[in-house]
Amino acid sequence: MTKLLTIKDEPEAFKGKSVFVRVDYNVVKNGEIQDTYRIDRTLPTIRFLLEAGAKQVVLASHSGRPKDRDESLSLRPIVQHLSEKLSEEVGFVEDVPNGTAPEDRRVILLENLRFWKGEKDDDPKFAEALSRFGDEYVNDAFGVSHRKNASVSAIAQFYTKRYAGLLLAEEVEKLSEVRDNPDKPFHVLFGGAKVRDKIPVLEALVQKADRIFIGGAMAYTFLKAKGVDVGNSIVDNDRLEWAKEFLNHYKSKVYLPKDHVCATAEVEKCGDGYEVRDTQDERIEDGWIGYDIGWNTIKTWKDALKEANMVFWNGPVGYYECEDFECGTKLLAILLSGFKDDGKKVVVGGGDTVAALSRFSIPYEDFHFVSTGGGAALDFLAGKHLPGLEIITKKEA
Ligand code: ADP
Ligand code: 3PG
Ligand code: MG
Repeated sequence: MTKLLTIKDEPEAFKGKSVFVRVDYNVVKNGEIQDTYRIDRTLPTIRFLLEAGAKQVVLASHSGRPKDRDESLSLRPIVQHLSEKLSEEVGFVEDVPNGTAPEDRRVILLENLRFWKGEKDDDPKFAEALSRFGDEYVNDAFGVSHRKNASVSAIAQFYTKRYAGLLLAEEVEKLSEVRDNPDKPFHVLFGGAKVRDKIPVLEALVQKADRIFIGGAMAYTFLKAKGVDVGNSIVDNDRLEWAKEFLNHYKSKVYLPKDHVCATAEVEKCGDGYEVRDTQDERIEDGWIGYDIGWNTIKTWKDALKEANMVFWNGPVGYYECEDFECGTKLLAILLSGFKDDGKKVVVGGGDTVAALSRFSIPYEDFHFVSTGGGAALDFLAGKHLPGLEIITKKEA
């Protein structure tokens, strides 16, 4: 099996060098850092390179999907956070294509790469401009490795070797375990809103899974496909046939909600403008919308999940952003956070799933692994090729 060349394999390569490190700091919104997890998880790579004698570590990331410069998505707020964490002043480069890195700083952060079109277009010219910042190249941005962007793809041609950072290497190791060799019994818990986005990963994981629990808005497409009334809940009508086939094929493995927490109207503001009611069974009456799994479901799923030795969880099982509909996600998250003490492995992936953990103040350390990747983690588990991983130099195992 080929393995990725990591910075740990050749620490001497960085001595006296400037190192370009692609990170995924897609955490700035409205001028503020939303969550520091993705930043903090890259600190070991930065510290490792400095200890290996790197002259300068140049960090580069995107945030959001700006068309061009957009101050509310500037990465500047991250400078202070990094400076505090690293106990040294971090420099900043505003004009990425034309600017130079200040020489008196060991750690530099570049401005949001997506302020320049070349990043998204995988433009070799933009990639060349980026490569001026580093004698060596490291990818520690697992979360964006599924995008063919200049800093994770076109940039490869300017380096003879491309290294994996410590976070990226850990992501690949832990997610490979889930994808290729899960501990058994292996259970998968899915939720969230978009069925179509999750079809490839559902199809891949169901092969290995002993049980698969489907909650969240996704569940209503499956229930409707089974012929159950789902009232006015969100349904992907174009995927009903697919869902029907999936259920027929994997009937014995699939768990769908047995009851729900519903509202009378589409929720626009939490706690306002709707009535809430629990259903008696899996059916939802006309005029009602399913927003969370019910008590009976939570109890059944809890008992079943306890039998697993490994669990992969992606997607909140309800509209967890509102207290009225957070119970399912919260109680299952609390249950799963206790598995580590019993030697069971829980791997969590997905932007909203991770955001739900932080909303409920459940520490990420309580899990075997919490991925920093959303779409990238799902693509990896679905067996897709990720451009940002393809470019990394391979070593023989
Ligand atoms: P992740 O980012 O973890 O992969 P998704 O993006 O697929 O998760 O889905 C998360 C979103 O799904 C959240 O905003 C959540 O509120 C929403 N959601 C979950 N269940 C429901 C539901 N029953 N009705 C409406 N929205 C839901
Ligand atoms: C993510 O948050 O999933 C990554 O940073 C990729 O962002 P993108 O979906 O805007 O390319
Ligand atoms: Mg999401």
